[in-house]
Amino acid sequence: MSKNSVLEIEDLNVGYNTYRGFSDVLDDLNLTLKKGEKIGVIGESGCGKTTTMKSIHQILSDNAVIKSGKIYFNGDELFALDRSYEKYLEKGPIHTELQDTFEENDLSVPSKSKLSKEGDSWAVKSKGTVRYGIYQTENGMIIKPRRDVLKMKKKELMSLRRRHVSMIPQDPTASLNPLYKVKTQMKDVLKYSGETTEEIEDYKERSIELFDEVALTDPERVLDSYPFQLSGGMRQRVCIAMSVAVAKDILIADEPTTNLDVTIQDQVLRLIRDILEERDFSAIFVSQALGAVRKFVDRIYVVYGGTVVESASTSRIFTDPKHPYTVGLMESIPKLTGGGFSVGIAGQTPDYVDAPSGCRFHPRCPDAKDRCKEEKPDLVDLGNDHYVACWRD
Ligand SMILES: Nc1ncnc2c1ncn2[C@@H]1O[C@H](COP(=O)(O)OP(=O)(O)OP(=O)(O)O)[C@@H](O)[C@H]1O
Ligand code: SF4
Ligand SMILES: [Mg+2]
Repeated sequence: MSKNSVLEIEDLNVGYNTYRGFSDVLDDLNLTLKKGEKIGVIGESGCGKTTTMKSIHQILSDNAVIKSGKIYFNGDELFALDRSYEKYLEKGPIHTELQDTFEENDLSVPSKSKLSKEGDSWAVKSKGTVRYGIYQTENGMIIKPRRDVLKMKKKELMSLRRRHVSMIPQDPTASLNPLYKVKTQMKDVLKYSGETTEEIEDYKERSIELFDEVALTDPERVLDSYPFQLSGGMRQRVCIAMSVAVAKDILIADEPTTNLDVTIQDQVLRLIRDILEERDFSAIFVSQALGAVRKFVDRIYVVYGGTVVESASTSRIFTDPKHPYTVGLMESIPKLTGGGFSVGIAGQTPDYVDAPSGCRFHPRCPDAKDRCKEEKPDLVDLGNDHYVACWRD
């Protein structure tokens, strides 16, 4: 565990019960988001991007099955401790003096917590689950909540959704309630995220500030409108305003422009890019296309068949892609000059009810060998923080 990470997904396996049998979608998916980092999660339709994002928020459909894995959410620093606490902490349990701080942060205090050394840091465990990480920094010790989202109780999950992690949806029309005016929905969002009191002037002022940030003109009229009285682009801007009001730690944008027409898509992408640049969010930007995220993410995770097949800094992915699927994605980027149609990747997304053995990409891979059909390759560190899962030399 790293003191810099806000989210760590470890070996996540999620599938769906379907009338054809069990659809085994996520296959040991691993992903890390560091504080302040912007990452892109890229892969073709059906590779499991939304399944992963919904797992973080725990909003999967009823037929979904989380088979195994961990999703650690490492919230912001709770407080700094001076070094004299170190010895005390070694003895555990957490001092009751600190209880208020934990409670103020919506975290229950594990009364019989135990400490164990994990690399350079300490982990506070309760019932065998890591609940906090304690890290040494230049300014003393810091404690960060480190919670497995998959084991959170309902109250903690509500807090995670209301205050810590928010999602800009793919479809703003389906996300806004058609029966309520925008002002009622903004008020709810701001109230539950702890942004404003119930005072009408208070939430109105904050809503107008947020609408200004997302370049929504005539904010008073927007507040007084029902969602159907706004254009698709305006509805998406309202959703973005709601999301950025809530996110304290992580902002997830799951293909936020799919349902918008091309010119509006561009404006909305620019808007999200500007917000990400201005604010100190850690962010996950989901897209089917590499080109769409190139300008505003630090790192790219390429997903194929429910697993990460390559991850590296954005510049490395573009200059030195290693996995045959990433190479195919690069060749799929439309070129404006010369070259005609892009080459693309032949074949289709795997059928997860009967997923390919070994490397799931083997039926489509130009370099597949016998071993690829039998054994799944692990992600291997190539150096320079570049990881690839492929048997090819
Ligand atoms: N509720 C569900 N029941 C059964 N199968 C599902 C369900 N939701 C998703 N799937 C299947 O899981 C696989 C991954 O879907 P997911 O929505 O995560 O893909 P995605 O990468 O987000 O695709 P897109 O880019 O099209 O949004 C697909 O085969 C999809 O059909
Ligand atoms: S492991 Fe084999 S099939 Fe999979 S991408 Fe590499 S070469 Fe292709
Ligand atoms: Mg999706």
